[in-house]
Amino acid sequence: MNSVYFIGAGPGDPQLLTLQGAAALQQAATVYLPTPFDQTFAEQLHGKEVLFPFDYDYQQLIELIEQQLVATPVAFLIPGDLTFYSPFQGLIDHFADRSVVLAGVGVANAAAARLKRTLDLPSVCNRTLIVSPKTLDNSADSPALEELAAPGVSMLIYMNNLPLAELAAKLRRGYGKDVPIALLHRLGLSGEEVVQGTLDTIVSACNGRDYFYLDDPTKKPALTLVIVGETLQETVDGSWWDYRRKTMWEQRKKAEGR
Ligand SMILES: C[S@@+](CC[C@H](N)C(=O)[O-])C[C@H]1O[C@@H](n2cnc3c(N)ncnc32)[C@H](O)[C@@H]1O
Repeated sequence: MNSVYFIGAGPGDPQLLTLQGAAALQQAATVYLPTPFDQTFAEQLHGKEVLFPFDYDYQQLIELIEQQLVATPVAFLIPGDLTFYSPFQGLIDHFADRSVVLAGVGVANAAAARLKRTLDLPSVCNRTLIVSPKTLDNSADSPALEELAAPGVSMLIYMNNLPLAELAAKLRRGYGKDVPIALLHRLGLSGEEVVQGTLDTIVSACNGRDYFYLDDPTKKPALTLVIVGETLQETVDGSWWDYRRKTMWEQRKKAEGR
């Protein structure tokens, strides 16, 4: 019996596909994907039937996949990874035991690597929140963005739908001070850009450029992730390393008899 593979495909660069994902993709003769994966994965997709899942309504899609599964495994390339903000759960649940979900490099992982920053720096940041103003707006009893922003919080903001000045002002109210912010646009894709500043400077750092395509009549998805938090501009000396070594690693070494 063939399976439907939901492959965490990373931000867009095929070099960030896992070995497991590459093997599953190779087996499937039919692949569903959103743009721009049709272009960036062109080499891996050569000779395969490539379809766009959002061209079909749910029931049509299920029926089509059922027909395709008779002949071949079917693959979905999931931007980033299933963990956050993925629309595929209904399909995964429908195919149940025939669904195989493969972990991938989330955009958050690629962004932290690009910035060379860990997001939970001890004594600087003690929690990381993943949010989208768009989904917060979906229910009336959700907390407002400014209630979630606070000193010590690293915040990853997906699918921003607020004008940048408004977003920065809300965050400024929550943090109660000026805090570093980075916009990561088209990570791992052509035209990749990273704009860094603080809540007070980010609007002018963007120079009038709208990285969220808010006024774009085509409504094309803006591949821009926002990261905010004190960790982005901290420098780290060796004291935390030495503290951990003394309080944990040396004792572990002793317990292991090394
Ligand atoms: C529907 S969510 C998908 C998130 C994805 N499932 C993940 O695990 O990273 C789409 C949002 O992810 C972010 N995103 C996706 N691809 C990106 C990329 N290549 N560069 C920057 N941000 C990206 C943007 O904030 C975009 O609005």
